[in-house]
Order: sequence, then structure tokens, then C-alpha cells
Amino acid sequence: MNKMTVRDVDLKGKRVIIRVDFNVPLEAGKITDDIRIRAAVPTVKYALDHGAARVILMSHLGRPSGKGFEQEFSLTPAAKRLAELIGQPVKLLSDCVGDGVRKDLAAAPEKLVLLENLRFHKAEEKNDPAFAKELASLADIYVNDAFGTAHRAHASTAGVAAYLPAVSGFLIEKELQYLGKAVNNPERPFVVILGGAKVSDKILLIENLLQKANAILVGGGMAYTFLKAQGINIGDSKLEKDKVDLAKALLEKAKVAGVQIVLTSDFVIVPNFDSNDAKISDTIPDGFMSLDIGPKTREAFKAVLSKARTVVWNGPLGVFERDAFLQGTKDIALYLAALKDKGVQTIIGGGDSAAAVLKFGLDDKMTHISTGGGASLEYLEGKELPGITALNDKKKPAGGCGCGCH
Ligand code: 3PG
Repeated sequence: MNKMTVRDVDLKGKRVIIRVDFNVPLEAGKITDDIRIRAAVPTVKYALDHGAARVILMSHLGRPSGKGFEQEFSLTPAAKRLAELIGQPVKLLSDCVGDGVRKDLAAAPEKLVLLENLRFHKAEEKNDPAFAKELASLADIYVNDAFGTAHRAHASTAGVAAYLPAVSGFLIEKELQYLGKAVNNPERPFVVILGGAKVSDKILLIENLLQKANAILVGGGMAYTFLKAQGINIGDSKLEKDKVDLAKALLEKAKVAGVQIVLTSDFVIVPNFDSNDAKISDTIPDGFMSLDIGPKTREAFKAVLSKARTVVWNGPLGVFERDAFLQGTKDIALYLAALKDKGVQTIIGGGDSAAAVLKFGLDDKMTHISTGGGASLEYLEGKELPGITALNDKKKPAGGCGCGCH
């Protein structure tokens, strides 16, 4: 990464403001997956251990109305969990800007402070310069470690960088290292597994990967539009009618580019979406829909994966939330865990694929699981992430251009 990181700045005696992504799933006020909080710990610890006078964390949680405090979107559970993980008190302030915050900051004895949800203010998502400036005025150095929110050009992810030295934390560095290597300089063969509900969500991703991957394996809801494009009967399975021609064109492009495409070839079918009366079938008769890949497809996918040196996975292969349709996603996740043991790079995109891997208890069996759903998707699509673009570039060494040629 050519952006400065926390290692490139002297934190001693400085007030350091760190944008983290504590947008974690909650059920009845309890965190059901704390991976994003755990992933922020190394940078927070580093700042504390390197003599920062104050470490101020800021995050959003959910999508509140932007009209002030709302209890259900409070960062209270995140502050508690962070204190447990880091083994020291975390002071949660009642807001993120304003005189009250300044007073509370001055009075608080805790070194580690978390501002309340940034999105209680509309100005955050509007990237309002006055709001960004006010956040910046709380600190001397800005660190962005919120990879999950790096695709948003908000005040705390992009705007604030205009007013302070701006560097990345270790999580952003690590995400870019794994995702960047996979798409820009992968050890080959490079195989991509694509799933998820809709082709329309993944058009740019497929177009970008067609220039990079050796093979693409297609499962999940999006596969049926591709099958339809090949004239295969898909019964009542998920279809995006207006994307059939596009699917055809993508298959054609893959042929030209020499990228192997493997589509779902057998199915787990039910008479309607609510039914769990599942049958394995080579076809999808009228009056049925498929909600998972069948055993022959799993074997066909594994045959390609067995030769891979780098695998990127984006999107589940079936309705893995329900027991009757999780086998395809689980079987392939287990296979990837075994490949990782053989030295294959297994990279899991954030969002649903990460949730699936977590559900199967395989989260520590992959090379890297991204903490960003939307952010990892946009990065893999080849887009710039505003939260990263805004950071300071690394300085070129004196007398050289920085490319290693001098
Ligand atoms: C995410 O969960 O993808 C990030 O935290 C960003 O959240 P957002 O989609 O509400 O901006």
C-alpha cells in the first residue's frame, strides 16, 4: 500500500482519533458477531502502547435517522465489548461533537474514549466540512481503520483527512494486502467463487474478474439467470429476466478471455420458497425452484478448486440460513479450509459469505475474511475507496522515485 500507516507517524503525546467500524449485528442489544471489534484492537493497542496522550475512537452503527440520539443505535454494547477485549476501561461519550463532548473529554480520566454514533448527525453522511473539521479539532492525528466503511465518502471516513495528518490502521493495511494481492498479483491458478442472490449486484465484479481470474464458479441465486441464458429450464427459481442478455454476453466475454466458467449443474429443489421438503435433482421441473447447489456441482467446483493457488469467494451458494439448503455452501467452505492447510490463499469477501463461514465455525480456518461487505465488493470491482484515497501518500525516499529503480 502506498498510503502512510500508523507506523509512519510519531504518536507520542498526541491525541489520536481513529475511525473504526463498530457497525456490528445486534439482537436484543447483544452483539452476535464481534469480528469487527476484534479486528480494530491491534491498531488501538498500538496507539496506546506508543504513547498517545489520548485515543479517541469514532464509528457509526446501523442507519439511524440522523436527527439525534436513538437508543437502539447507541454504541454502548460496542464500548463494553471493546473494554473486555482490550482489558481497560473505555469511556463512551454521549455525542460525537459539541461543547458537551469537549467538556467530557477534558474531564474524563480514561485514556481510551469512544464517541457516540456519528450517524446521529446527518452531517456525517453528507460529508459536511464543518462537521469533519469539528471531529478533526478533537485530535492531532487521524487514523482510518474502518475498512468496512471505506467505500463511503463520509465526514469521518474522508472529510476529516483534509484537516489532520491522515494514515491507515493495521486492519485497512491487512485488508488491502490480501484483497489487493488476490486481484492484482495472485498466485495462479486464481479461482473465484461467486454466489448471492442477484446478477445485478455483481455485474461490475464479474466484468473486472473476467480480466483477472482463471476460472469463475457460479452458484447461489445468480446462477439461474446464467442457466436461463443457456436455454436451461429453471422452473420457478430466481430469475432476473432483464439480465438474461447480459448473462449471455458475460458468458461470451469469458469465452473470449479464456476464463473457465462453471455453472450450477444439479440442484436442491422444493415446490415453493417456504418448503423444506428438499430433493436433489439434475433438472428443475416446472412448479419447483432450486435453493442450493447439488452434490454433482459441489464435486465439479472442487475439481477446479483443487488446482487453485488463490481463491476469492463472494456470495453464498444457497440459502445457507436454512438447514435444508446449507450443504453446498458448507461443503465448499470445508473444502477451502482444507486447501488453506495446503498453502492455498483463501480469501472470503465480507457480508453474507463471511457470515456463512462464521456459522460453520470455520472463521479461523481461512487465510483472510474481509470485515467489509460493500467495501470488499467495491474494491474487487476495481473501484477506488474514498476512505483510502483520502489518506496521505507514503513519502518517496530522498534521491529516488520510490519505485526501487535508483
Ligand atoms: C457495512 O456494514 O457494510 C458498513 O459498516 C457500512 O455500512 P452502511 O452500508 O450503512 O454504510
